[in-house]
Amino acid sequence: MTNVIKTCDVLIAGTGVAGVYSALNLNKNLKIILITKENLRDCNSYLAQGGISTVLNDDDIIPYIEDTIKAGNYKNNKKSVEILVKESKDNIKRLIDLHVPFDKNEDGSLSYTREGGHSTFRIAHVKDETGKYIMESLYKELETRTNIEVIEKCRLIDIIKKDKLCLGGICSFKDDTLEIHAKSTILATGGLGGLFTSTTNFPSLTGDGISIALKNNVAIQDINYLQLHPTVLYEKNSNGKRLLLSESLRGEGGIIRNLKGEEFVDSLKPRDIVSKAILKEISKTPDTPYVYLDLTHLDKNFLMKRFPFIYSECLSRGYIMDTDMLPISPAHHYAMGGIKVNINGETNLTNLYALGETACTGVHGNNRLASNSLLEGVVFAYRCAKKINEELYSHTVNYPTKEELIDFLKERVDENYAKLLNC
Ligand code: SIN
Repeated sequence: MTNVIKTCDVLIAGTGVAGVYSALNLNKNLKIILITKENLRDCNSYLAQGGISTVLNDDDIIPYIEDTIKAGNYKNNKKSVEILVKESKDNIKRLIDLHVPFDKNEDGSLSYTREGGHSTFRIAHVKDETGKYIMESLYKELETRTNIEVIEKCRLIDIIKKDKLCLGGICSFKDDTLEIHAKSTILATGGLGGLFTSTTNFPSLTGDGISIALKNNVAIQDINYLQLHPTVLYEKNSNGKRLLLSESLRGEGGIIRNLKGEEFVDSLKPRDIVSKAILKEISKTPDTPYVYLDLTHLDKNFLMKRFPFIYSECLSRGYIMDTDMLPISPAHHYAMGGIKVNINGETNLTNLYALGETACTGVHGNNRLASNSLLEGVVFAYRCAKKINEELYSHTVNYPTKEELIDFLKERVDENYAKLLNC
């Protein structure tokens, strides 16, 4: 085993939406190393189906803030919520500029869907694979950036901490230990679904950023705030990662029913309420640990066009969405808590930042409103990149390099002195 050292301006751990979007919004003259534990696409952002929420117009600012806070059971950080909502539109625009092919209406305007807890249709989407399409657009842009080095199969195992400063990270890469020295380090390692037997997350997401924070006394917040997704396909003996049936299926008319076919809960309530009602219903029939998501009253062509991914995944498991009721039960989906950060992603350790599901901005309270996760990823990643740009600009760009200073002196000092310069 050898110890390899690399240096950069910014080290980012995690290739989900928060990690990649922050990299793309950092100054192009900064050297960035972006690492991921597995492959580039093994991130929860890639799996997001329903969409990315956005404020519709100025009249929607208050209702959207209220929906987010109500879903979060009034435990949200109000300042973070306001930022999320008010900065949503600009970031959707940035995503469009990065060629995310959001679904549109015939007149060219964005087509919005609805999910539980939202008082209106305000969720932008790309069919039923919004996360995949957003990430593919960001990865494409990443390929054009020569200042960003991507290293796959490179697992962050610790940060380098000295005199109350974070100076980079230590990674395990192939058989080597890779020390990456960085002026700023961003933890965007995703959630912790891999710690649960039943989850919608990638199994490789095991809360690495949070473990590293714990080890280094970096503050953590609300780690007990975990979210079940109510509608995950039930499959006998299936453990680990299960198939998510997007909440937007309910937004477009899907209904949750018990084994007798009765509608026992309002399908468009926030996730914690719907999950709780399903678990209560399931407890009445221990031999049949599921209820149903009913889409049979919806048009086949509409379902196939609007939800092509889910339609084909269900079909491959023997279910036809427009004729079969789909067995569902809740599974772990999201961690609202994480590494405590301020509104620019700064942790309590200087030069260490955290973003996305790894971080806790307090924006979700104890129950995240649907489709607020991709949005949180982009809004706070953009702010964090801006903050780092400002900080590093004052260190690296304002000053001439050593070589530039020598050239400057060479032209000004007399020739005897010029000979002594260390060129
Ligand atoms: C879904 O489509 O139901 C998941 C999206 C989210 O977690 O907000």
